[in-house]
Amino acid sequence: MENSSYSKPKLSSTYFSPQVQVAIRLNSNESPFGLPHRWQSELSKAIDSIQFNRYPDRLSVNLRNALANYHKMSPENIYVANGSNEVLQSIYLAHCRSGKVGMFEPTYLLHSHIANIVSVPTLRYFRDESFRTDKQELDRAIDNKDLSLLLLCSPNNPTGNCESHEIIEYACSNFDGLVVVDEAYVQFSKQNITGLLKTYENLIIVRTFSKTWGSAGLRLGYCLAAPEIISQLFSVSLPYHVDAIKQIGGILALEYEDDILESTGEIIKQRNETYEFLKTLPLDVFESDSNFIMFRPQTVQSDQLFNSLIEKSILIRFLDSFYNLEPALRVTIGTRDEMARFHDVLSDCL
Ligand SMILES: Cc1ncc(COP(=O)(O)O)c(C=O)c1O
Repeated sequence: MENSSYSKPKLSSTYFSPQVQVAIRLNSNESPFGLPHRWQSELSKAIDSIQFNRYPDRLSVNLRNALANYHKMSPENIYVANGSNEVLQSIYLAHCRSGKVGMFEPTYLLHSHIANIVSVPTLRYFRDESFRTDKQELDRAIDNKDLSLLLLCSPNNPTGNCESHEIIEYACSNFDGLVVVDEAYVQFSKQNITGLLKTYENLIIVRTFSKTWGSAGLRLGYCLAAPEIISQLFSVSLPYHVDAIKQIGGILALEYEDDILESTGEIIKQRNETYEFLKTLPLDVFESDSNFIMFRPQTVQSDQLFNSLIEKSILIRFLDSFYNLEPALRVTIGTRDEMARFHDVLSDCL
């Protein structure tokens, strides 16, 4: 079912964020802060002792132990890979070989793109007007026996909102296949569904170091699930897929939880201030539990505003290629100074 004139995405060059040369980049939902410099110097020291003539630990045991400790779970519940995108690819390869994956649009473009790469057919369902997963649509997906996987995104990119705890639990208890929840941005919200793993053996929670952990360049992601699910993910991974530097980088990063909590708090504060500011302008602004905010201008076209901002050396994201989404804009929360400049320029442009 495709229920909107905006349902067909264009295969546009903005499929991946354009890498335009600008002074202020607020387009890729990265953290403006990164890990403290101490992390980088500790990593440099640790690299000195890596035996680079040897393959790394194939099962990333120390990193998985550190993550297990962080989540108060067992390492058998944890799979790691090169970013959460690769985690999703492994999930498709291991758990969707003969079925289809269902997703709720508009959502993160890479969910369907990665499925295409590994030849997993996708079925698209739709969110309600406030971009929550629609209960009736969820029931349609649950009843579809062709689906092996349901993919939820909470908070959802690009709309910014979380799925409710009830909807996630409803999906887990009623769907016969696996329910994957992509939680790339969850630390910017108040939600925590890790407790559901104890009850639902069909739940997979996907996390990343690219957002709150300020380490997009490290390319490290992981997921939490029942041991049987995790062992099948390793069986579809290439040997030694997680390199030695990444394994150490992840372990060291986890020691900086307090710093990350502080920078996350600062981003949330900036997000809330930006939200209030955007509401004072002629824009439709959508509430966000993430480190970005989606909005749509009322008086000019989205692409016009996007280009005016680029002329002033500010890059945000033009959302023109999402299923079931009228073109809109998305701004990633940057530093206080970057946001102050964004606010000034945006007011001028409007
Ligand atoms: C919802 C969502 N999931 C996953 C990712 C990819 O993260 P990673 O850098 O871990 O591959 C992103 C990146 O923007 C995202 O928005």
